[in-house]
Amino acid sequence: MTQRITIRRPDDWHAHFRTGAMLRLVAPHHARVFGRAIAMPNLVPPVTTAAMAREYKKEFDFLADEQTSRRADERKFTPLLTCYLTDGTDADDLAQGYEDKIFAAAKLYPAHATTNSAHGVTDVKNIYGALERMQKIGMPLLIHGEVTDPAVDIFDREKTFIDKILAPLRRDFPGLKIVMEHITTADAVDFVNAQNGAVGATITVHHLLLNRNDMLVGGIRPHYYCLPIIKRARHQIALRAAATSGNAWFFLGTDSAPHARDKKETACGCAGVYTGHAAIELYAEVFDAEGALDRLENFASINGAKFYGLPVNDDTITLIKQPQTVPDKFIADDGMELIPFRAGETTPWSVA
Ligand code: NCD
Ligand code: ZN
Repeated sequence: MTQRITIRRPDDWHAHFRTGAMLRLVAPHHARVFGRAIAMPNLVPPVTTAAMAREYKKEFDFLADEQTSRRADERKFTPLLTCYLTDGTDADDLAQGYEDKIFAAAKLYPAHATTNSAHGVTDVKNIYGALERMQKIGMPLLIHGEVTDPAVDIFDREKTFIDKILAPLRRDFPGLKIVMEHITTADAVDFVNAQNGAVGATITVHHLLLNRNDMLVGGIRPHYYCLPIIKRARHQIALRAAATSGNAWFFLGTDSAPHARDKKETACGCAGVYTGHAAIELYAEVFDAEGALDRLENFASINGAKFYGLPVNDDTITLIKQPQTVPDKFIADDGMELIPFRAGETTPWSVA
């Protein structure tokens, strides 16, 4: 008998949609299965004010429109927008945006940590005023947890961030809701577990499926290059244990990060893995391999909503163990090519 599992509709608590043709290509992939997705603000220019977020939200309107959306699932999708914190963030605008439900959270990118983060925060002390307000009103702080000090090895940047920035931040703002985004190390798993629910963490499916050998042995695979960079197997094992642990503070966040093919397959390629086309199927593959399919719903559909203080989705999706082939590439309406994770290969699970 075909294996199948029905779960409450999941959400994606960390995704990149970009704008224009790329957004029109990738947003329907997410909307196909996810009820909501946290839309990252690292656009060019970044989403730094509530007014900019209001404008950005309009780019998703085609999904809700019967004329332009292809499926009923798409029309239910809600993007949750975030504010890109800078040294000059206006705490009043931020708080008002949260109160008006324009912002679901604010994102801390250390300056130059990753794609389009040049306007990021140069010293976390510069946003202490904003953080105080966020703590007071219960607005979540989402963190890209890597230091940018050129002297720190790229494989150690997450651990150093925890020790030097995150642990002191926790002491200074004990009541602030924090999500450590896309954790990649056993150190981050241990840190988050030790906070006993005060800190949440998203885990991407590519960090669950891959370790650095997959990226670097037998040829360099630019489509596996992302930030924080994929670590050694020991860390992958710790992440798989965390995701399937049942602990309420770990939840699904794809960090699906589309870049045009020519920006990835080049001498200096961009960071970002595109998984939006088959994310829940790939997570199901991991949970199946770990013998933990019964815990997929908590990780994908419940823990994140609870952490954010939002209701869980009221409908369901069904996954079946039936292979599907991933296209070699997707082509946007402006001709741009996007290479998806597992391009031309199969995933064992499908959405019914
Ligand atoms: C993201 C992107 O491309 O915007 N890239 C990535 O490798 N994850 C930025 C980010 O989340 O770090
Ligand atoms: Zn991201």
